[in-house]
Amino acid sequence: MAITLMPLPYAPDALQPAISADTLNTHHGKHHKTYVDKTNQAIAGTALADHSLEQIIAATRTSDKKVFNQAAQTWNHGFYWASLSPESTKPSADLAAAISSAFSSHQDMVEQLITQGAEHFGSGWVWLVSKAGELAIEATHDAGQPEGEDANPLLVLDVWEHAYYLDRKQDRKAYLKAVSGKIDWQFASENFARQSRWTYPR
Ligand code: FE2
Repeated sequence: MAITLMPLPYAPDALQPAISADTLNTHHGKHHKTYVDKTNQAIAGTALADHSLEQIIAATRTSDKKVFNQAAQTWNHGFYWASLSPESTKPSADLAAAISSAFSSHQDMVEQLITQGAEHFGSGWVWLVSKAGELAIEATHDAGQPEGEDANPLLVLDVWEHAYYLDRKQDRKAYLKAVSGKIDWQFASENFARQSRWTYPR
C-alpha cells in the first residue's frame, strides 16, 4: 500500500501570521508531497512495498540512507503538522509535571527549543523528546529522528530553510519564536501519555 500524503490538520491560512498560507501550501503541497512520492518510487516493487512508513524507516535507517531520508522526511513532516494547532492548547497535568521537573519553567523549555533550533547548524529538526519519562530537547540533522527504543518524540519543529524562507528570509529565530506559540500541547500530551511513538496515518 502506497504511503499517503497526510492532509494538513487545519486550513493552510490557519496558522497565520506565524506561518503564511503561501508557506504552508508550498511546504505541504510541494516539499512534503515530494518526500512521499520519492518514498513510494523507492519502495515500489521491493519487499518494503507493503510495509508501514515506520517499518520502512526502521528497515533503512542504517542500510539505505537514500530511502531512509525520503521516508523519515515523510514521517517528520506529518508529525510536524500534527505538532501545530491554530487553537490555544495546554499540556496535561502529567506533561506539565514532567516539564517542571526537567526545566525551570514551561517558558524556559520553550526558550530552549527556540535557541537549540536557531543555533542548529544546517537543515534539520528540533524535538521535545521523552526518554523513559524524562524530557529533553534534541536537534537532529537532515531527516534524522530521535533514536533509541525509549525515545518518544512529543513534538517537533522543522528548521529546514523551506519552513520559513518565504515568510522570514533567513531569520530562523523569528520563525521559531512565532511558531512556538502554535504548538499543539494537547498532541504532545497524548504522545507523552501513550509512551510510544505516534504513527503516520495509513
Ligand atoms: Fe520541511
